[in-house]
Amino acid sequence: MSEIRPITWNSRSRILTLLDQTLLPSREEYIDYADPEAVAEAISTLVVRGAPAIGCAAAFGLVLASYQYSGTSSKELSAWVIDAADLLADSRPTAVNLTWALERMLGVLEKTGSEETGRIQNALEAEAVAIFNEDIASCAGMGDIGAGLVSDNARIMTYCNAGALATAGYGTALGVIRSAHKMGKVRAVWVCETRPVLQGARLTYWELMKEDIPCTLVTDNMVGSLMSAGDVDLVVVGADRIAANGDVANKIGTYTVAVLAERHNVPFIVAAPLSTIDLSKATGESIPIEERPPGEISGYGGVDWAPKGAKVYNPAFDVTPADLVHAIVTERGIAQAPYSSSLKALFSSGD
Ligand code: MRU
Repeated sequence: MSEIRPITWNSRSRILTLLDQTLLPSREEYIDYADPEAVAEAISTLVVRGAPAIGCAAAFGLVLASYQYSGTSSKELSAWVIDAADLLADSRPTAVNLTWALERMLGVLEKTGSEETGRIQNALEAEAVAIFNEDIASCAGMGDIGAGLVSDNARIMTYCNAGALATAGYGTALGVIRSAHKMGKVRAVWVCETRPVLQGARLTYWELMKEDIPCTLVTDNMVGSLMSAGDVDLVVVGADRIAANGDVANKIGTYTVAVLAERHNVPFIVAAPLSTIDLSKATGESIPIEERPPGEISGYGGVDWAPKGAKVYNPAFDVTPADLVHAIVTERGIAQAPYSSSLKALFSSGD
């Protein structure tokens, strides 16, 4: 486990505490949440971000909603929780972990919905805690599995932040890097800064530095030149949603890295839990891509560098086609092309 705690649930006080990722790395501040509206706002404004982390936060958001209800009608409680689930589901569209976690919670509500309200609330809390604990376990599992793909003395490139901060703990892509580092296999990590919100520079570098994993920060437009110089052995990234055919939606710019990796014969691998795989989407084309506020591109931290009123386009994610992906590492094993059968097989291997 990493010591970084982006999400903490306090069962006694019924408070959700989130590490405010918008302030990192200059300030490490925690905010307490007691209602689902504030949790939805925290998800949209990136206080908590990263696919598995927003799933966990949304699950606890529903627990908070259920505890807000002080009446005795289980029907009213259910309606209350369903309203909160709708609100939370709208907070970010691309990462499927958000709706996956909410659907799991609503499944519990459906099963327990006719019981007395206290029992429903307890069952919802237990499910959110289970989602959280399972995420930590699956990240650790996929970290160890993925480390098997890392050669000795590897120089690994990563993009965005798919670390402890983006999950309940440990991370997906950074989980692979953490595990490989423990095995003594990592010579260097190239951290791409990840415009426009700088998850690489602010968050990934901060995480790796805390654990003394050797890393170097580069701008996103240095990727091609590093690869052509032969300085990158492997790329490992996370994902927000993976379609049934293996197309991968991840932070905007991931596709560019994958194309360059292909050109330079650098293996490009994706680490993600099964909760990120959406078999209901046949290809990446039907994955909704979030558009974020223009201010993220025209400036940063209150400083504007584009002329006032500049027209901005800010899609937060892109889709890397499956044929550029060498392997998808999950907690249940590694999938390779053809993904339409290998991804399905991973789901059935747990039955
Ligand atoms: O906009 P963000 O910061 O939520 O985007 C996060 C990413 O794209 C991550 O790479 C992805 O969620 C994987 S996190 C384990």
